[in-house]
Amino acid sequence: MGRLDGKVALITGAAQGTGAEVARLFAAEGAAVVLGDVKVDQVGEVAAAIGDRAVAIELDVREPESWSAAVSAATVAFGAVDILVNNAAVLLLESLVATAKQDFLRLVEVNQLGPYLGIQAVFETMRDNGGGSIVNVVSTDGVKGMNGVSAYASTKWGLRGITKSASIELGRHRIRVNAVCPEAGNPNMSSEFLPGNPDLSDMPHQMMQSILAAPDDAEPGSRLRDVANMALFLASDESMSCTGGDFVVDAGLTVGQFQDFIPTT
Ligand SMILES: NC(=O)c1ccc[n+]([C@@H]2O[C@H](COP(=O)([O-])OP(=O)(O)OC[C@H]3O[C@@H](n4cnc5c(N)ncnc54)[C@H](O)[C@@H]3O)[C@@H](O)[C@H]2O)c1
Repeated sequence: MGRLDGKVALITGAAQGTGAEVARLFAAEGAAVVLGDVKVDQVGEVAAAIGDRAVAIELDVREPESWSAAVSAATVAFGAVDILVNNAAVLLLESLVATAKQDFLRLVEVNQLGPYLGIQAVFETMRDNGGGSIVNVVSTDGVKGMNGVSAYASTKWGLRGITKSASIELGRHRIRVNAVCPEAGNPNMSSEFLPGNPDLSDMPHQMMQSILAAPDDAEPGSRLRDVANMALFLASDESMSCTGGDFVVDAGLTVGQFQDFIPTT
């Protein structure tokens, strides 16, 4: 028996990285999955590899009409939308003083307005169906500060705010809204902003060893699977009492600092 048997999940930004991982895991746990992305060919390939319980659609999360079409397509294909994973986002690594207004607004449109419109778009079908689960993919940049991410972080802190307000408004309709705050994602999201476009495949693994040491044989992709597993828990009925929460998946990165000068065992 799958943990999402009988459920229909709409996942945004599913052409690659976290979204594709979530789609594969949800399908393996019995869900019918609708994969949305602006990268139409690529998301089609991911859906085709999953099989006939997966459908790919062109979805631009910035556009209300695009959302309406996506929810209609999901309903036509599988009868309802029980789960929405607001995963699509864009990154900018740039200092605060050098960030252009149009770049700031571009991030707000995709990362913050996009999930907002998504919640609006699925509301009716979830309410009429007796409830649902919405999982917003935030980031540890929505929990702590870091240089170079002022625009990105503002959208992710904003998404946590949306999560909390939405959970209060929608709880009476049995719609749960939670945030996953991962450190790990697709490492290539960052590499395009760094000198020489370095291969960062191992970066999440390295960054998170500061608090919780990774097993010696950990694969780079294992952190991404942890993120997908948290999304699975929040999407499933196993988390029926969870709403409005922030669920960090960061191997302790945001918990605090280890102070070397204090004697410890
Ligand atoms: N990469 C990281 O290190 C990292 C860390 C923490 C959190 N996250 C978060 O994880 C989530 C997934 O990111 P990822 O790491 O898989 O990166 P990614 O770049 O591989 O995936 C993002 C996806 O969103 C899609 N997308 C972009 N704009 C869109 C739009 N307007 N409409 C629809 N789709 C759009 C892209 O085409 C892409 O497929 C994001 O919310 C991101 O902020 C990433």
